[in-house]
Amino acid sequence: MIGDARGSLVSIEKGPQVPFEIKRVYYIFGTQLEVSRGFHAHKQLRQLAVCVSGKCRMVMDDGTSRKEVWLNSPDKGVLINNLIWREMHDFSEDCVLIVFASQEYDEADYIRNYDDFINVVTANAKS
Ligand code: TYD
Repeated sequence: MIGDARGSLVSIEKGPQVPFEIKRVYYIFGTQLEVSRGFHAHKQLRQLAVCVSGKCRMVMDDGTSRKEVWLNSPDKGVLINNLIWREMHDFSEDCVLIVFASQEYDEADYIRNYDDFINVVTANAKS
């Protein structure tokens, strides 16, 4: 983060923190209280998620263990690899969640059923 008396600036570019070419950016805002989102994994897609305003709780599950992180600062990002089941909970009213993605939108890349996700992860571990 770059800052001086005027405020702060965050720059995001390809490198160790974003180890992929960014092909798409989308953002989620105006999420209703008590609404959770996500509940899917991606076969190939990798993403970097940042709450540039407000906060939300990101749950990430690799099929073996679940971890969660509060995205609660514009200088805090989380890298979400492919084959990670993700859920977003507890959105604040002012939450703006920006996602930088390695691929264009492709519904065929989604795994939207948790049992299917476990089957894919298990099959991957065996091969
Ligand atoms: P989805 O990825 O399921 O949202 P979330 O995981 O946050 O709940 O996307 C919601 C809808 O928006 C779904 O119909 C697909 C569509 N969508 C696009 O058309 N383009 C995009 O880049 C994204 C992320 C979603």
